[in-house]
Amino acid sequence: MSAQPIARRVEHQQTDKGYVPVYTTAVVEQPWDTYSADDHATWGTLYRRQRELLVGRACEEFLRAQDEMGMGDHQIPRFDQLNEVLGAATGWTLVGVEGLLPELDFFDHLAHRRFPVTWWIRRPDQIDYIAEPDLFHDLFGHVPLLMNPVFADYMEAYGRGGVKAHGIGPEALQNLTRLYWYTVEFGLIDTPDGLRIYGAGIVSSKGESLHSLESAAPNRIGFDLARIMQTRYRIDTFQKTYFVIDSFDQLMQATAPDFTPLYAQLRQAPQHAAGSVLDSDRVHQRGTGEGWATDGDV
Ligand code: PHE
Ligand code: FE
Repeated sequence: MSAQPIARRVEHQQTDKGYVPVYTTAVVEQPWDTYSADDHATWGTLYRRQRELLVGRACEEFLRAQDEMGMGDHQIPRFDQLNEVLGAATGWTLVGVEGLLPELDFFDHLAHRRFPVTWWIRRPDQIDYIAEPDLFHDLFGHVPLLMNPVFADYMEAYGRGGVKAHGIGPEALQNLTRLYWYTVEFGLIDTPDGLRIYGAGIVSSKGESLHSLESAAPNRIGFDLARIMQTRYRIDTFQKTYFVIDSFDQLMQATAPDFTPLYAQLRQAPQHAAGSVLDSDRVHQRGTGEGWATDGDV
């Protein structure tokens, strides 16, 4: 048996637009004692597989942080133990949640250096793919870089920027969501040893870890804030384009200015398909586009 939430994670409510999801907002204690042997085994299997794959593929900051936090394959980590290390390092706190939060709640957590972590883990038959974030994605993927002081500050700034964008309107929010997608979830970083992964959506996926670095299909393009904010993305296939930062400092500095004028400017700017390459791009690699779906960018 696998730990599953007591209440359905995402309730649906009937409206005149049909059924719409209502996300749960509550912060919950991690019910650690309810994890089954299968749950711990799922964590262990995924942990071992990804760690082996990620040595030499994920950035050093990520791998080192996992070790410093005492993450391992023997059991699902306890949030309160991780919080002792994380709190001492950068002042971040993990809070347990049932699943995706409403945007404003999510931003508010980040702005206060709280990272919401889904407490339940996927079933054994979902090892290779699960559509929604679970404990493995959130904890293995997102939490380690919160140990890095620069990235930790970036995430807080993102949260405050999210609250602000939410007040500006849906286009601003879309611009900001794309930034999150192409950095926090699917970012690559250039290092003296070559490109490395830092995005949580990549490190928590075996297929995308290999695809993002080794496939000839995707574009790999230098980080450019406005360009990213104009670019659609994929939610159901590997990315067609990965954006490459030179350092976490670059990310921090490029996103420090007030985005308000940029949002206004981008309302008139063209939107780019997920796979497009522009003359102005700093191209690390132009993808072959092999296997790309022709529609479905969001
Ligand atoms: N500087 C951004 C703003 O003014 C906030 C932000 C920082 C957003 C870092 C994302 C990442 O809205
Ligand atoms: Fe995520």
